[in-house]
Amino acid sequence: MKRHLISAADLSREDAIEILDTAAELASVSSRPIRKLPTLRGRTVVNLFYEDSTRTRTSFEAAAKRLSADVINFSAKGSSVAKGESLKDTALTLEAMGADAIVIRHGASGAPHRLAEWVTGSVINAGDGTHEHPTQALLDAFTIRQRLGGPQQDGDGHRGTGLDGLRVTIVGDVLHSRVARSDVLLLSTLGAEVTLVAPPTLMPYAVSTWPCEISYDLDRELPKSDVVMMLRVQRERMTAAYFPTVREYRRRYGLDVGRMALMPSRAIVMHPGPMNRGVEIAADVADSSRSTIVEQVGNGVTARMAVLYLMLGGAEENS
Ligand code: NCD
Repeated sequence: MKRHLISAADLSREDAIEILDTAAELASVSSRPIRKLPTLRGRTVVNLFYEDSTRTRTSFEAAAKRLSADVINFSAKGSSVAKGESLKDTALTLEAMGADAIVIRHGASGAPHRLAEWVTGSVINAGDGTHEHPTQALLDAFTIRQRLGGPQQDGDGHRGTGLDGLRVTIVGDVLHSRVARSDVLLLSTLGAEVTLVAPPTLMPYAVSTWPCEISYDLDRELPKSDVVMMLRVQRERMTAAYFPTVREYRRRYGLDVGRMALMPSRAIVMHPGPMNRGVEIAADVADSSRSTIVEQVGNGVTARMAVLYLMLGGAEENS
């Protein structure tokens, strides 16, 4: 594995399988009465969050703590960032305090990449602008494998990923979604066939170069999907009117119970959260037994434990 995790494209098929397998082993820790391993004792993980987050920040914190690392939570609000301190100076300060890994969320696409040039520890991208969110893709892959995973070995003994050939449809505000980009990259690396569905105004310009199919017709894609992943309409990143009204958006691209009935019976519904209930996803779909939304949150801790464990050399120390 590379020293940093900036993009889902940093992960080869073998790296991704290793992370998912490690996560599966670590999952058992979360169900024990004492949810702690000594693996990263003495290591320091800094959570450097310039953008609001509920799930991702707490999930990285829980993951690091379950591996016994020391965790420093740094949020830009209330720090010298508010006084104008640059990302570089903040990073060098944190590194001087002994950070072995910096987990960064930033509103600017590319910030984690720059950070990696300045520090000697590992950098993990926890979401940068509209660019990437690789650990979300890992927890999504883990969740799909857990619910639907096919054979992890083919007839000739070749290692399969459990996702080979599965059809994943990602729907909604692809333009502003770092989750969509990371999911397309990782899930295609793992052998899934990904289709993006969005209104033309919310489809990124260069999407034709991504390893996926493109469609504008949700009802046509649903019957052939094993996984339907709904994306949040990211109003805070919208600088113009991308669709006429919420009602119109919901009518064409929202997932309600009627539409869910078009999906094959074993197909699942995913959403990275936070949800706009009643916009991209109806409340009764989000709360249905086909929804993996709550599992995704739990799996986020496990997947991030696996990333920290492998990146901070826990495996070597233990052997
Ligand atoms: C996503 C994010 O922040 O990129 N959420 C998450 O990490 N769980 C998606 C979103 O904000 O819609």
